[in-house]
Amino acid sequence: MNLRDYLVLGRSGLRVSRLALGTMTFGTEWGWGIDEAAARSLFDRYVECGGNFVDTADVYTGGTSETWVGKLVKERRLRDKLVLATKFSFNVEAGNPNAGGNGRKNLYRALDASLRRLGTDYVDLYWVHCWDMSTSIEEVASTLTDLVRAGKVRAIGLSDVPAWYAARWQTLAERHGWEKIAALQLEYSLVERSIEREHIPMARELGMGVLAWGPLAGGLLSGKYTRETTEIAGSGRLDRMKGNPLVAARTAPSEARWQTVLAVKAVAEELGCSAAEVALAWILGRPGTSGALIGATKIDQLDGSSRALALVLPEEARRRLDEVSALDVVHPYGHFRETFQKSMIDGGDNVQRTAP
Ligand SMILES: NC(=O)c1ccc[n+]([C@@H]2O[C@H](COP(=O)([O-])OP(=O)(O)OC[C@H]3O[C@@H](n4cnc5c(N)ncnc54)[C@H](OP(=O)(O)O)[C@@H]3O)[C@@H](O)[C@H]2O)c1
Repeated sequence: MNLRDYLVLGRSGLRVSRLALGTMTFGTEWGWGIDEAAARSLFDRYVECGGNFVDTADVYTGGTSETWVGKLVKERRLRDKLVLATKFSFNVEAGNPNAGGNGRKNLYRALDASLRRLGTDYVDLYWVHCWDMSTSIEEVASTLTDLVRAGKVRAIGLSDVPAWYAARWQTLAERHGWEKIAALQLEYSLVERSIEREHIPMARELGMGVLAWGPLAGGLLSGKYTRETTEIAGSGRLDRMKGNPLVAARTAPSEARWQTVLAVKAVAEELGCSAAEVALAWILGRPGTSGALIGATKIDQLDGSSRALALVLPEEARRRLDEVSALDVVHPYGHFRETFQKSMIDGGDNVQRTAP
C-alpha cells in the first residue's frame, strides 16, 4: 500500500496523505476502542507506508488518544514529518460550562491541554470540532488567527458545521485578513451523502479541502453486518455504536441503506476486492473530496483501506453506486439539475458551463 501520494489541503500549505489515520479508537474508555499495543502497531504501519496525517481530538477517550499519539510521535521522532491534527469544542469537565464551546476562554484552555498531552508546542491543523451555536464567528476566528500568528497552530479547519456558517466565516476571513479555513471535516459516505447539497459546492467555491469522517459508516459499509447481526434487541443499531446516540442515529440502517450496502458488496465481488475498498474508492473519486479519515482497529483493516487508494472504480460500477445511494431531490436543489437548467434556463440549447 502507498500513502505517499500527497495532496495540498485546500489552499493551505499542508501536504497530506489522502487517508488520515483516525485515532478515535485509541483507548478503551468508550467501550469499543483498542489498547496501546494495537494502537502502536497501527501507527507504525501507517507511518511506515508513508502516511503523514494523524487526526485526534481532545475529547477522544478522555484524552487517552492524544496522549498515545503524542507518545508515538515522540518515540519515532516524527514531529516535523507528520501533520498532526486535533480538535476542541466538546466539554471535557462536567460542571464547568467554560470547559467546552468555542469561546476564547475555552479555546486557550483546550489548546494548552492538547499541547501538553501531545507533548508538542504546536498543532498543524486545529479543528473546531463542532459549531457551538452561539459564539460569534469574530471571536472564534480572530482567536484562532492569533494562535496561528503566535506559532501554536499552523492551519485551521471546521468540523460538523452548517455550510452557511463556514461560508460566512471564510468570507469574513477574506475581508478581515483572518486565517482562512483550510478544510472541512464532515461525515460522508455512501449512506450519508447530505454534504453534497451545500458543503461540497461551497468548499470548492471558497477553496477548502473536504475530509470525510465515518467513510465506512462505522463499519456498516465494510459489509460485515447483515440485517440479522446488526439488530440489538430490535433496535436496528450496530454493536459498536451502543451508547452513542449521535452515531447510533446515523447508522440505524434504513431499507435504502441496506440496498446500498448490498450494491457495495456486489461491486466488491465483481472486482475481487473488499467492500471497504469499494466504499473508500467511491469517496476518493468524488469531486471536491480531498480524502478520508480511516478508523481501522486492526492492521489488515488499515491495509485494506489503503488499497482503496489504488482502486479506480469502473464507470458503470460507480454509476450504480451513485444511483442506489442518491439523495432525494428536495427544494430548491431540483432547480440546479442539468436537465432543469437545459430546459428552463438555456431554452433547450446545448450550453457549456464551468462546473460549480
Ligand atoms: N469530526 C467528527 O465529528 C468525527 C466523528 C467521528 C469520527 N471522526 C474521525 O474519523 C475517524 C474515522 O471514523 P469512524 O471510526 O467512524 O470511521 P469508519 O471508517 O466509518 O468506521 C470505522 C470502523 O469500521 C471498521 N473498519 C475500518 N476499516 C475497515 C476495513 N478496511 N475493513 C473492514 N472493516 C473496517 C472498524 O470496525 P470494528 O472496530 O468493528 O472492526 C472500524 O472501527 C475517527 O477515528 C476520527 O478521527 C471524526
